[in-house]
Amino acid sequence: MPCQRQHSEPFVTITACAGVKATLAVAWFVWPQMLPGLQNERYLENHMKISSLATAALAFICLCLFQQAVADDPERAAAELEKAIHLKTDLENGRKVYLLCSVCHQPEGWGTVDGEYPQIAGQHTSVSIKQLADIRARNRDNPTMFPFTLVDHLTLQQLADASAYAAQLPMNPENATGAGDDLEHGKKLYEDNCAHCHGEEGEGVAEEHMPLIQGQQYRYLVRQFEWIRDGKRRNANPDMVEQIKNFTARDVSAVMDYVSRLRPPKKRLAEPGWRNPDFPDYWRIHFPPESSGHH
Ligand code: HEC
Ligand code: HEC
Repeated sequence: MPCQRQHSEPFVTITACAGVKATLAVAWFVWPQMLPGLQNERYLENHMKISSLATAALAFICLCLFQQAVADDPERAAAELEKAIHLKTDLENGRKVYLLCSVCHQPEGWGTVDGEYPQIAGQHTSVSIKQLADIRARNRDNPTMFPFTLVDHLTLQQLADASAYAAQLPMNPENATGAGDDLEHGKKLYEDNCAHCHGEEGEGVAEEHMPLIQGQQYRYLVRQFEWIRDGKRRNANPDMVEQIKNFTARDVSAVMDYVSRLRPPKKRLAEPGWRNPDFPDYWRIHFPPESSGHH
C-alpha cells in the first residue's frame, strides 16, 4: 500500500499520497474529454455511470484509509493530548515537520488577512497540540487540514515537535484588525467576559491549554467565536459558550477588534517584513507579501 507511514519526512509521504490520489481522481473525470476520438455521447454517458460508481468506490477506499480517524473521538483526543504534552520536543525535527505545515500556514505562521488561516506563530505548544489532536479525532472540524493530521502522516512526537516549532516563531507585527470604531465597548466586554480565562492581554495560559489570542487575525477570531457560540466547534469550552451566548453581532466585532489589537510583548514580535530564514527556498505564490491592513 503506497500510503503507509514509512518515510521519516512527513512531507514526502503527504505529497506522494495526496498527489497520487488527486491525480487519479482528476484523470478519471477529465481524460475522456481530452481524447478527441472518444467524445461521442454514448461513450460519455457510459463513462458518467462508471464515474459515479468509481466516485463511490473512491470514497469507500478513502474511508477505509482514514478509518482510524473517521469516528468523532473526544476521548482519543484527550488521551493524545495527555501523552503529547509530556513529550520532550525537538525543534530541529519540528522544523522538518513544519515544512508540511508551511504549505498552508506559510513559513512565518502568521495567518492571512482574510482569516482563512490563523496565526499559529507564538501559540502555546500545549494549545496547538490540543488543536491538532482534536482536529484529527474530528473533535474540531477542519476539513482542509484534517487529512494532513492523520496518524499515517504524523506521529505524536512529530505533532508535538511541529507545535513547539510554531510556538517559538516570532509573531506577526501587522496582523489584520477590525474597523477600530467601537473599541471602548470591546474593551469592557473583554474585561468582563474573557480576561479571567484568556488573560488581561490575551496571552492565554500554557498549563491549561488556554489559547493565546492577542494579535490574532481579526477575521479568524470572528469566525472561531461565532463557531464556538453556535456550537459548530465541538471542542469549545462549555463555560465559554455559556458566557458568550447572548453576544450580538455588534458585541462580537467590538470584542474581536479589541482582541486583535492586544499587542504581544515586543520581544515576541518580528520586525515588519521578516521572512523565516529556516525556509529560504519557499515559493510564495498565492499569498500577498504584506499581511497587514484592515478587514
Ligand atoms: C491544507 C492546509 C493546512 C495544512 C497543511 C496545515 N494546516 Fe493548520 N490549519 C489550516 C486551517 C484552514 C486552519 C483553520 C481552521 C479553522 O478555521 O478552524 C488551521 C488551524 C490550525 C491550528 C489551530 C489554530 C488555533 O488558533 O486554534 C493549528 C494549531 C494548526 N493549524 C497547526 C498546524 C500544523 C502544526 C500543521 C502541520 C503539521 C498544519 N496546521 C498543517 C490549514 C492547514
Ligand atoms: C471559561 C473560560 C473562557 C472564557 C470566559 C472565554 N474563553 Fe475563549 N476559549 C476558552 C478555551 C478553553 C478555548 C479553547 C477551546 C479548545 O480547546 O479549542 C477558547 C477558545 C477561544 C477562541 C479560539 C482560539 C483559537 O485560536 O482558535 C477565541 C477566539 C476565544 N476563545 C475568544 C474569547 C473571547 C473574546 C471571550 C470573551 C468574550 C472568551 N473567549 C471567553 C476559554 C474561555
